[in-house]
Amino acid sequence: MKIGIITGASAGLGIELLRAAVKRCPDIDTYWLIARRKDRLEALKTEFPEKTLRAVPLDLTKEESFNTLLDLLKAEKPEVKLLVNNAGMGKLCDFDTVDRESQLTQIDLNCRALTAVTHTCLPYMTKGSAVINISSIASFAPTPRMTVYCSTKAYVQSFSRALREELKPKGINVLAVCPGPMDTEFLGVAGCEKGKSRTFDMLPHQNPTKMADTAVRDALRGKSVSTMGPFYNFYRILAHILPKCILMKFTRC
Ligand SMILES: NC(=O)c1ccc[n+]([C@@H]2O[C@H](COP(=O)([O-])OP(=O)(O)OC[C@H]3O[C@@H](n4cnc5c(N)ncnc54)[C@H](OP(=O)(O)O)[C@@H]3O)[C@@H](O)[C@H]2O)c1
Repeated sequence: MKIGIITGASAGLGIELLRAAVKRCPDIDTYWLIARRKDRLEALKTEFPEKTLRAVPLDLTKEESFNTLLDLLKAEKPEVKLLVNNAGMGKLCDFDTVDRESQLTQIDLNCRALTAVTHTCLPYMTKGSAVINISSIASFAPTPRMTVYCSTKAYVQSFSRALREELKPKGINVLAVCPGPMDTEFLGVAGCEKGKSRTFDMLPHQNPTKMADTAVRDALRGKSVSTMGPFYNFYRILAHILPKCILMKFTRC
């Protein structure tokens, strides 16, 4: 059984990544969809009657969730052709004004869960499999007022690049995807809806459908980083060249 596993599949970019994977990966017949809201995952089944969709309701900030996933893999022994680590959240705030728990949850979900899910799934991945890790343009430079979030996404970027090198001999590609702002539930959760952050309001917002399609295409092409559109591709180059102290005058949210 060839499967795709998508975390954060109950909303936003995650749903679009499922749609893009179904379109671009005809050999995958089954998808395991992970998120906390089971009803949302179940509702997706009607959209793809030709595929087997399995709702796997898990809170990825909880340690036992990784064991549940491991048990499922051990029981079914699938070939994981595609793993998409998409579940993530951020908080727009001054670091010291928000409770410790909210700050640490970003690390638990964006870094710890992504690492744990990858580690759990890798033994079931083979030549030609791909891992897609959702990072962010926030990984390119430190982002004051999204201090923890940008740091978690820099981790995702670095983790993905290093793991890609490690897995090259096995023929498994790892892609880091770096979206700009997208109008999903993320903005409400992070507290950066319109009017809350000058930077978020000014930046071009990206279409999650196009972002997901570009991500899956780039993963299948064996790319290492995926950024969409001339504005953010130029920013990615600029961020490599400019000193961080200058960049941060513009990245402050
Ligand atoms: N939107 C943006 O502006 C933007 C920009 C750059 C990068 N990104 C990144 O893109 C990815 C997708 O974000 P999005 O914009 O699609 O956000 P979203 O609409 O808020 O979706 C987040 C997904 O993560 C899941 N999730 C949240 N907490 C979870 C937990 N504890 N356990 C399991 N699943 C959990 C949510 O499902 P449940 O609530 O059902 O658990 C949901 O499916 C994230 O990694 C985000 O950092 C977003």
